[in-house]
Amino acid sequence: MKLPLFALFAVILLPASIVSAAPPKEGNAPAEHSIASPREHLSLDQGWKFHLGDDWPGAFELRLMKAGMNKDAAGENFDDVLWRTVNLPHDWVVELPFEEKSDRSHGFKPVEPGFPQNNTGWYRRKFDISPADAGKRIQLQFDGIYRNARVFVNGWEAIHNESGYFPFRTDITDVVHPGMNTLAVRVDASEFEGWFYEGAGIYRHVWLDKVDPVAIAPYGVFVTSAFEGNGHTVPNGPAAITASVTVTNTGTNSITTTVGGSVTPAQGGERIALALEKGEIAAGEAKTFILKGSVTKPRLWSPETPSLYLLSNTVSVGGRVTDQLTTTFGIRTVAFDKDLGFLLNGKPYPIYGTCNHQDHAGIGSALPDALQDFRIQKLKEFSNAYRCSHNPPTPELLDACDRLGMIVMDENRLLGSSEQNLDLLRTLILRDRNHPSVFIWSLCNEEYIQNEPVAGRVATSMQRLVKQLDPTRPVTAAANVSGNIGIPPSTEVRGWNYQEAAWIDTYRTKHPNQPHVGTEVASYMTTRGEYVYDRVKGFVDCYEGRAIANPEKWWGQIFLPRPWLSGGFIWTGFDYRGEPTPYSWPCISSHFGVIDTCGFPKDNWWYYRAWWGKEPVLHIYPHWNWAGKEGQEVRVDALANCHEVELFLNGTSFGRQQAKPDAKMTWKVKYAPGILSAKGYNAAGKVVSETKVETTGAPAAVHLEAWKTSLAAQPGSAAVVNVSLVDAKGRVIPTAMDEVSFSITGPANIIGVGNGNPSCHEPDQFLPVQTVRSIPVSDWRGAAMKLPPKKTSQRDPTSPDLEKFVATLSDSAWTAATVDGSFPIPSGKSGVCAATISVTAEDLKAHALLLKVNGGGFHAYVNGKPLDIKLTLNGDIPALGQGEAVHVPASLLHLGVNRITIAFESAPKKPEASLALVNDGPVHWTRSLFNGYAQVILSSTGEPGDVTLTASARGLQSASVRLKAEPRSAPSVLP
Ligand code: GAL
Repeated sequence: MKLPLFALFAVILLPASIVSAAPPKEGNAPAEHSIASPREHLSLDQGWKFHLGDDWPGAFELRLMKAGMNKDAAGENFDDVLWRTVNLPHDWVVELPFEEKSDRSHGFKPVEPGFPQNNTGWYRRKFDISPADAGKRIQLQFDGIYRNARVFVNGWEAIHNESGYFPFRTDITDVVHPGMNTLAVRVDASEFEGWFYEGAGIYRHVWLDKVDPVAIAPYGVFVTSAFEGNGHTVPNGPAAITASVTVTNTGTNSITTTVGGSVTPAQGGERIALALEKGEIAAGEAKTFILKGSVTKPRLWSPETPSLYLLSNTVSVGGRVTDQLTTTFGIRTVAFDKDLGFLLNGKPYPIYGTCNHQDHAGIGSALPDALQDFRIQKLKEFSNAYRCSHNPPTPELLDACDRLGMIVMDENRLLGSSEQNLDLLRTLILRDRNHPSVFIWSLCNEEYIQNEPVAGRVATSMQRLVKQLDPTRPVTAAANVSGNIGIPPSTEVRGWNYQEAAWIDTYRTKHPNQPHVGTEVASYMTTRGEYVYDRVKGFVDCYEGRAIANPEKWWGQIFLPRPWLSGGFIWTGFDYRGEPTPYSWPCISSHFGVIDTCGFPKDNWWYYRAWWGKEPVLHIYPHWNWAGKEGQEVRVDALANCHEVELFLNGTSFGRQQAKPDAKMTWKVKYAPGILSAKGYNAAGKVVSETKVETTGAPAAVHLEAWKTSLAAQPGSAAVVNVSLVDAKGRVIPTAMDEVSFSITGPANIIGVGNGNPSCHEPDQFLPVQTVRSIPVSDWRGAAMKLPPKKTSQRDPTSPDLEKFVATLSDSAWTAATVDGSFPIPSGKSGVCAATISVTAEDLKAHALLLKVNGGGFHAYVNGKPLDIKLTLNGDIPALGQGEAVHVPASLLHLGVNRITIAFESAPKKPEASLALVNDGPVHWTRSLFNGYAQVILSSTGEPGDVTLTASARGLQSASVRLKAEPRSAPSVLP
């Protein structure tokens, strides 16, 4: 018998009897939650050194002929002291100025073949491996680097990864050693992968995992839940839980391992044990264990009730726990039906979704995790679904969707069935398949070749792989064609980008069993707060906007009579950098969003709330600050989901109009300052909603509003503060464009500023300007003498012998330099001299201290301790005297007078030396408001305490907002 298509898409069907939790087979197995697991998952986000370009002397050269020999910036000994310190996530493109000659689709940022100086970036970081780690496997994980990253560990090329969106991992156990190790990453962003802003750099997290040789494999856990029946049945019985756990044995002996598991509601509650499984794993092999259990009364996950569960798995060998891992998941069913559309937990669930790119105002593509929460909360105010267009997201986005409740179309970057393409796709599915928010996979978007048979074959191979790895979710591909060949008929669910109703109907008659989804539907542009179409400024008015695909058409005419289309994803939720449409320069961002790049709503935010939401909505626009237009006609529009709307100006009615949830109402009103108001009526004539817009007074003060008043005192945790100007009555001035300056005290830094203006060329970030101050070295005294012979151990500058030799020189043995500058060591001869410097407390805070000395090769000592001046391979001292600087560790200096000793191979005529203090200068952050608003993003330094952000604008009362940086259970961080 042929199964109906919907049954194929329902979550795994269960055998008639549901397997329930069996009692543990090993009575002495410890409870998972009390076990100290050897697994460590350590953040490597903090304390990187960054340099833009490959432009140092003897620049990077990849050593392909011999292994482990990469030097320069890829090696251990490279001196990166003058490189800037950055924390991840980091996007260097957002730091660059806008440039009209650069690629418009990437937001006019000078990173592309025409700007080679900006294409390559280097990151370096030391990390400590303890002797206690001996025997563990050490693995690096990068969640995403844009793009073409070569990763070096101690000069070994550890991995080369080209994709800018997929995560990658590598085992580095063999090439690390106890003590400090060097991680170096070269990033080459000279090629594009998308037609939108992509940023550049290590813009997602980096992790170092330490695991036992017998451990759960990366992405080795897959947990599914199922109910009796199929996707059409509302799941109200017990949920059968199946946890598939793959364990690897990288040890040298075959072992017998026990794998246990338990399920607990994330918010607390009864812990349910899964049946233990036991098995042998040969050395170098992996084995998958299937653990089963049952949750009797599951709390179902949905956007409205995002209930989560924690699966905790424990691996043990001979009673010793070798691994423990917790996986977050949710219990719910997803299915697509050819007639009913998308079903969540067995019920039709219209998809009211938005497509989004991953960047945000002020910070480009480098989003701290808190920004994922912020953005999903903003989108949840009017929608229930998120399409990751057109690339795999960062895992924290999916975590936010799981937690806050948002269904996700998780999208692969490119169509392709080569081994390499399938490997990337495999990584995506394995990484994301436990997220309850993910309800469908998308293989690709609008491939030019989508209508050809070859594309259909490739899509079929890709879909086959997805179904092997995850039989619980359907697969689609976003296609902007109506045709019957190629990709569209090859995927389980037909994905529609922008097609006419008639074409959709014709297609359906030819493919009657294929379900449908609107992968990309309405595409409509407006600029927040603008009511005039302005080509010069690059603004699109909010009355009419510009439509590539009209929202009212898709929602009112296409979807409403065809619920089997499942709903759709509009283009887009947030505005994003790049793809400025319909204009080019000066526009640098798109205007497609319902909310701008900061998340400030445009007028059509109310349109979607009225159409998609359940709450009463009544919104009138424009603002009512039209000084100079008194007596002239101003168009007033309203959006509402009631029966009728009546408009008033200063109490005088302009009549009622019938409200339709998917269309707007329009009046013409002669402008007079005051109060523009509206009442919404239900069919019985009762007032159900009211709103007003007031003419404001003159700007009086800056106003700050924190999204949340606390943030975790953890490096990288972030906060969002919105900025506006208000009049004396506290009303936001909707036309304000003033420049606002920001300053911050306490344990946080400003990391980005934005305002949602798609044509604003002001900097999003203000980098510290490095300043160099010199402390002169004075009070020279010297003694001509033979240095210990070359190529002996005493000539090693770090040798205790040479140190001793210098230390034996008593002050009286030295001759002071004369006032006329003559020096006791004849020029060109060897000798030793001493001098002093005076150091203040401020000097000790310098970001780098560099000793600069003239004259021939030398060794240098600070307070008797040698400086690390590298010898050449044959034991000669390199010629450092010609202006190159030697790094002085701050730990060698103390307050007050310090002694510098220099042993010259060949003394200068007159020695000159200075200590250069390199400091990050103060940074002055500013941003103009755009139609009343701007935004500041802060990041915690990791310390607890009060953070105060102050904002001031010329002639106005300034504002401060206080946030608490609170200690919370911090993620593990590797020093
Ligand atoms: C779509 C495409 C999107 C974006 C949009 C702009 O066809 O899928 O990525 O380019 O057009 O209108």
